[in-house]
Amino acid sequence: MPRVSKNRVSSAGSEQGTSDGQTLAGPRHVAIIMDGNGRWAQARGRPRLFGHHAGARRVGEVVECCPDLGIKYLTIFAFSTENWKRTQVEISGLMSLFRRYISKEMKALAARNVRVRFIGDRVRLDAKLVQLMDDLEHETAQNEGTHLTIALNYGGRDEVARATKRLAADVASGRLLPKDVDEETLPRYLDTHVLPDPDLVIRTSGEARISNFLLWQSAYSEYEFIDTLWPDFTSEELARLCQRFGNRDRRFGAVKT
Ligand code: IPE
Ligand code: IPE
Ligand code: MG
Repeated sequence: MPRVSKNRVSSAGSEQGTSDGQTLAGPRHVAIIMDGNGRWAQARGRPRLFGHHAGARRVGEVVECCPDLGIKYLTIFAFSTENWKRTQVEISGLMSLFRRYISKEMKALAARNVRVRFIGDRVRLDAKLVQLMDDLEHETAQNEGTHLTIALNYGGRDEVARATKRLAADVASGRLLPKDVDEETLPRYLDTHVLPDPDLVIRTSGEARISNFLLWQSAYSEYEFIDTLWPDFTSEELARLCQRFGNRDRRFGAVKT
């Protein structure tokens, strides 16, 4: 059943005390469009990659504060299917940053019980990077702390198209009947099939668009578009957004009683 009153604690939420003694539910799954690295660097007269490195350094702090905020799932947008339109210098700089990040900083997260997954199409990524991604997923598969999902070469439309291709193959082979295709069946073919839908989607840098992120999954997410550039984002700001989430009415199409 959808929750029709304010986000009181339910099995889906995490508890947060308020000044009037009420207990509100924070978001269980937060997804972040980490935008603004280029402008952050530009404001300092530095190349865009300087901003990407600063942005990557913010991820660790944000992941680490999740347990305190009751966030069980964190999904971050690292590289979109449209980001291939950037210069070769920026793309190869980002790819080498991902390789370095996964093999160093991420190992530390793994040691802290974080379970890491990747979503997106791996076909266009280089073999060395895909190997590191596979290894990290494998190494953290038994971890039971925060579920961190990194969207890398991810696009919502691309994900739905790839899912549809697999679904069509199952129909063609007789494993799935057309009459059984519904809102429950289709998401089982998405990259996110093991994850709950995001409760809260945050985009930094002042842009009020979703840029092809989690199109299907965010149908009923709450959104926060904030001006902070990603390299300046802090755990305090995340805590404030979680608090605000707790005060929102999520009606899911129902009428508040
Ligand atoms: C987000 O920062 C990171 C990626 C898209 C890889 P941007 O690189 O888009 O930064 P801006 O939007 O140009 O400032
Ligand atoms: C969205 O940011 C993708 C990521 C944060 C990885 P972009 O900077 O690519 O989005 P647009 O181009 O402003 O829509
Ligand atoms: Mg951008």
